[in-house]
Amino acid sequence: MSTPFYITTPIYYVNDVPHLGHAYATMVADAFARFHRMRGDDTRFLTGTDEHGQKVEETAKKRNLTPQQLVDEVAPRFDEAWKTLDIADYNFIRTTSEKHKQVVTNLWHRIRRESPEDLYLASYQGWYCVGCEAFYTESQLVKDGETWMCTTHKRPVEFIDKERSWFFKLSKYAEPLLAHIKAHPEFIRPDAYRKEIVSFLESGLRDLSVSRTSFAWGIPVPEADPDGMKHVIYVWMDALTNYYSDLCPPDGSLDGADAKNYFPHAIHLIGKDILRFHAVYWPAFLLSAGLPLPKSILATGWWTVRGEKISKSMPATRIDPIKLAQALAVGPFGMPLGIDAMRYYLMREVPLGNDGDFTFEGLFGRFNADLANDLGNLVNRSLTLIAKFAADHPPVRDDQFHSDGHENPYWQLEVHAFETVRVVAREFEALAPSRALELLWRFIGQANRFIDQTQPWAMARSKDPALGHALWCLQSSLWTIARMIAPVLPATSHTLLGWLGDTGPVTWPEGVDGRVFTQAPQLTAQPPSGAMFPRLDEPMQAKILAAVIGDEPGAAPAPAKPAESAKPAAPAVAQITFDDFAKLELRVGKVISAVAIPKKDKLLHLHVDLGEAKPRSIIAGIAEAYKPDALVGSQVIVVANLAPRKMAGLMSEGMILAAGDEAILGLSALDRDVPPGTRVR
Ligand code: MSP
Repeated sequence: MSTPFYITTPIYYVNDVPHLGHAYATMVADAFARFHRMRGDDTRFLTGTDEHGQKVEETAKKRNLTPQQLVDEVAPRFDEAWKTLDIADYNFIRTTSEKHKQVVTNLWHRIRRESPEDLYLASYQGWYCVGCEAFYTESQLVKDGETWMCTTHKRPVEFIDKERSWFFKLSKYAEPLLAHIKAHPEFIRPDAYRKEIVSFLESGLRDLSVSRTSFAWGIPVPEADPDGMKHVIYVWMDALTNYYSDLCPPDGSLDGADAKNYFPHAIHLIGKDILRFHAVYWPAFLLSAGLPLPKSILATGWWTVRGEKISKSMPATRIDPIKLAQALAVGPFGMPLGIDAMRYYLMREVPLGNDGDFTFEGLFGRFNADLANDLGNLVNRSLTLIAKFAADHPPVRDDQFHSDGHENPYWQLEVHAFETVRVVAREFEALAPSRALELLWRFIGQANRFIDQTQPWAMARSKDPALGHALWCLQSSLWTIARMIAPVLPATSHTLLGWLGDTGPVTWPEGVDGRVFTQAPQLTAQPPSGAMFPRLDEPMQAKILAAVIGDEPGAAPAPAKPAESAKPAAPAVAQITFDDFAKLELRVGKVISAVAIPKKDKLLHLHVDLGEAKPRSIIAGIAEAYKPDALVGSQVIVVANLAPRKMAGLMSEGMILAAGDEAILGLSALDRDVPPGTRVR
């Protein structure tokens, strides 16, 4: 019997369309599922949409649709997006499906049966964030003037004034959960998130309101309220149950064979923002119902886009993963390799669990260095060499050249391949794709060095009898790499295996006794029919940038626009010559006065000493970041030869250098006192 492996993604709210943050969780889960399928594990992969709740009801109202119309319109977009992005063999669950509704209803009844005191009627008074669909105490919120705000959504929370509600006795579960976490350290991963939840549990839990009466878009509570109120089940109780309901038979029974078989192996891959729901509420509901707990809650960090939170108010941060994959499809093999490049960047760039900042510079850097150079060159060089010399020196293993020893490059290459297969598998099993890729790329590096070291072209010239063996080592290395990259770069793997003539099922290359090359099937080697990842030059980079974010507000400027508003990481600002730079007169200035300008919230009027006869009058858009008094006496860097211009009715005779564009994050600084007027170069 093969081991069950069950991976789930968060189910996505249908008030939105998929962006990079959603795609990340789905692609990572897909990579794990692919890896486990390759290992022969009995793999299940679940994603879907979260379709009930106040947020969806409100969004539908704004669009003049019924909630059902809205969810029927948006849910398929997620499914289509995952199909377009070649996410493989997943089940797609919708919380509006009849089976799911039945399972949630059954869960309620099961809690009633197993732990009757866990659900009770009372009235809820307190704060609610519709964005999070979550209840908050004031200590969990921030105050902006008189308004309480949600820290995640940065928007006002609403006050629920004594709404009648069913409560779940969450307080009862702090101790049992702590005990479970202690006994199962793998329950919450990575470690930092476990610690966060442990300290949350140690501070005690309050009972949780699990029904609402002030709106209707949800699964009805399946029992009467003596006061005649109609309750719908709290959307998180409904949504979390998806992980179980997909495993249930059509009648919604909680005791089916699949639930028993798979659920205890479940790994819930989630964003860190929804950790508490998964690591506290969900297991508490399951304990209360007498059902088994999932194996792990695996939290990922958050992606920002060029330093900004992904948000609706900044369209340029809402990177569309399909547009990005299309734009990266620069080679002759089209979209599938564009998808692979995107997957590679996201999974390699940050260790799972850490926050990441998506930058085009980082993406292009990884593309060029790791994909075009390391992998692409290895593939091209190897296949070209094999195609060229194979007729006279067929690539076959010849043990006389493969003796053990650190001096023997053939033996060394296979030992490293064998080791890599093992450690990369270990890292995928440990749910650490970034590390898996790092180790895999070390082997790619060695295979490239092997070519430099053995110089097959020189061996051919000198008719070296070891050439066939050297080519076989290369071919086998490519084959091993093609298999190992498959979880993260499935299309690249497929293309490469095609060139090697391997059309069999893509399983993980299991080495035996230090040998892994011996497993390669009878391989052939077609010369590559084009570069898989052509190097991205500057015009191509600019084109990708334009295709992905175009001129969305907040987008990095196109190359021809002035450089002053460019993001630090934007690579597409046109290069300048030293002569261009020398035209700028940058000087150290000392702020001698700063005052607010009436009716201009963003501007301050400064007088800055540049060592000239009279201080410069400078209007600076920094009022939101600096109080005038705080600036007096500080040193700044001034563009001193900027043509004067009138702003807010005042003359501005220069510009202060500052970091940030929409929001000022800091002023340029010097590390020691420098006389005003000193030139900066
Ligand atoms: N519907 C709930 C989840 C219910 S699971 C039982 C929800 N949906 S969501 O659409 O708002 O977000 C789903 C997930 O998308 C987040 O938890 C997170 O995993 C992922 N991300 C959304 N934005 C993200 C980033 N910027 N970065 C990384 N992932 C983020 O929450």
